[in-house]
Amino acid sequence: MPEPPVSDRAFLIAPSVLPADFSRLGEACVALEAAGVDRIQFDVMDGNFVPNITFGADVIASVRGEVTVPFEAHLMVEEPTWIIPAMVEAGCERLIVHAEACRHLHRTLGAVREAGAAAAVALNPATPPDDAAYVLDLVDMVLVMTVNPGFGGQSYISTMATKLGALRRLIVDGGHDVDLEVDGGIGPDTVAHAAEAGANVLVAGSSLFRDPQGLTHAVADLRARAEATRA
Ligand code: DX5
Repeated sequence: MPEPPVSDRAFLIAPSVLPADFSRLGEACVALEAAGVDRIQFDVMDGNFVPNITFGADVIASVRGEVTVPFEAHLMVEEPTWIIPAMVEAGCERLIVHAEACRHLHRTLGAVREAGAAAAVALNPATPPDDAAYVLDLVDMVLVMTVNPGFGGQSYISTMATKLGALRRLIVDGGHDVDLEVDGGIGPDTVAHAAEAGANVLVAGSSLFRDPQGLTHAVADLRARAEATRA
């Protein structure tokens, strides 16, 4: 099957605050906004869907007023319907739910939209692209996990490139206006691979916060490396 046309969707940098110092989360958001990110992603973990616990809506709400960039919540939460209203109230413009965590994914995505947020679906590494096929009309983004969820600082799973290509095919053939986001191990050495495979929304945590030249350099470098794939 021929490859879908090369994506011309704008590259967006959506940092994860998972590696940030949670005692200074507001300052981290201010620094990320100053560094030129397009939005900020909050990794919400419930200790059930993933073997880790991070924070809930109250923490996100506490930093909402510090910046103006949009917030998105990556809900690593089993059956997340109950948390939708609180996340919207906290100021998240987009809620990303995992296909694996929703017994009734179509209904849950509809509930996100009814709550007034943009809806997105995340697929773990072992989950096939077709699991998103019948909800592409409900979402504005598909998140392809390039690590197994729960922790930052893991290694990029390069085999997700074929899944990105398959999703691009589904999106293009269906005429859907849907972004492709990647999350996990995204940094200077991996971003071009993900971008060439079709990702246009780039989540990075460790690689940004660990850059010895600082966040502004890290964000600009990541964006430049992605843009260079279309030069
Ligand atoms: C995993 C998390 C991480 C985090 C970014 O559940 O979703 O992927 O956002 O991690 P790194 O540090 O790999 O960029």
